[in-house]
Amino acid sequence: MVTLSISKGETITVSGPARLTVKKGKILLVGAEYIEGESVVIHKYRSYDVLGIGYAEVEVVLGEDGSIVRNEEGYELIRCWTVIAERVWKFYKDGRSKPVVLVLGPVESGKTTLTAFISNYFIQRGNPVYLVEADVGQEDLAIPGTVAMVRVKRIFTWQRGLGFDKLRFVGCITPSQCREEILGAICDLINIARRDPSPGMIIINTDGWVKSSLALRHKLEILRRIKPTHVVVTDKDLYETVVSSVRRQVDILLADRPKNVRARDREARKLLRRESYRRYFSDSVVRQVDLSRIGLLKSKVFGGMRVDIQELIKRVPALDIIKDKITYASVFGDIINVVIEGYGENIFVSDYGFKVNFISKDRFKGCLVGIFNGDLEEVGVGIIKDVSIRGDNVLIKILTPYRGPIGGLVAGYIRLDNDYQETGGRLGCDI
Ligand SMILES: Nc1ncnc2c1ncn2[C@@H]1O[C@H](COP(=O)(O)OP(=O)(O)O)[C@@H](O)[C@H]1O
Ligand SMILES: [Mg+2]
Repeated sequence: MVTLSISKGETITVSGPARLTVKKGKILLVGAEYIEGESVVIHKYRSYDVLGIGYAEVEVVLGEDGSIVRNEEGYELIRCWTVIAERVWKFYKDGRSKPVVLVLGPVESGKTTLTAFISNYFIQRGNPVYLVEADVGQEDLAIPGTVAMVRVKRIFTWQRGLGFDKLRFVGCITPSQCREEILGAICDLINIARRDPSPGMIIINTDGWVKSSLALRHKLEILRRIKPTHVVVTDKDLYETVVSSVRRQVDILLADRPKNVRARDREARKLLRRESYRRYFSDSVVRQVDLSRIGLLKSKVFGGMRVDIQELIKRVPALDIIKDKITYASVFGDIINVVIEGYGENIFVSDYGFKVNFISKDRFKGCLVGIFNGDLEEVGVGIIKDVSIRGDNVLIKILTPYRGPIGGLVAGYIRLDNDYQETGGRLGCDI
């Protein structure tokens, strides 16, 4: 345990795990003020700047790997971020409209922290914030593979643990794989937030996929559709690109990016995702749904038109030798799906002018699915535990914390093993 003296305007960077307790004066951390007697915990994968608002004394308990770095004079990050928060605040106070702030930038460039920083600036001044978390790989509010929204009234350091009010299932953790789903989910949630007449701000945090032209087009399409009042960018080149594309129609602000960051490697990111899945499903029940009554949207197998196995064999005589193993067949566009007992998955273009998708029943197990209530509103996520095909009925068992009525399901690409580890790569679940 050490007690640090921080002079007015000075910043120190603390890497977690650490616990800070203000002993004297006042500090600013992620845009929120902490006064004498108040404590904050910094997670082991996070590092933050602590700014002295006037002279302050802070007691710091560091865990293993935790560290403290005193920044040199002229370190401007917090000043830069404060100017940005003030600018959005001024727009709001001038009563022009509800601010809608879009945060863009590469991976590990401070987007999540800056989103929290601007949010806290508003919350501290008594104005709640709608937070939309659209980084599907590092989704901190709900679980990876979703876009979630929460209305926040209390200051926080990290979005993780805030929970969510609404979520949209996009079904992938690699943004390039589900661009339409992400765009749709963001628009949907922003519209809900915009319709709320109560005061406050709306802020959207995005993923760090910004380097390729496809990525840029995707981000600019999000910008175009949500019509933000402000775009905050944590990278110079990206900033220039957004300015060239949009010019003066929106207030575009360049934010400094943090330097001494506690960077997370791939493994750490994976671990955090696993922790999120585990937490979300911790209080779950297994529920059974009948697919003849409830649709599985975007599943090519069960969303397809069911075909009689005998009819199928007439059309594709080559399947005759495995006919005893076929338990289900369907047509989805130009694909014929053939569900097979104990067979590996294998897609080939046959001589018959369509694709045949052989899929084992086991491939459904572990797939994440979104859950709709009776009004086509997405209310939760489930994991497929079992599929049983009995005559005309297809019954599936799903593990989910959601207890209300189930009106439908939607498929994605994420598949988890029993230990909540992603398995099967990008197309772990392609059902
Ligand atoms: N001012 C800062 N100084 C040092 N590290 C910081 C600072 N702000 C954030 N960080 C750390 O940098 C890392 C990346 O920040 P994060 O906000 O998660 O970026 P992104 O959302 O762009 O990936 C995190 O570990 C975070 O704790
Ligand atoms: Mg982030």
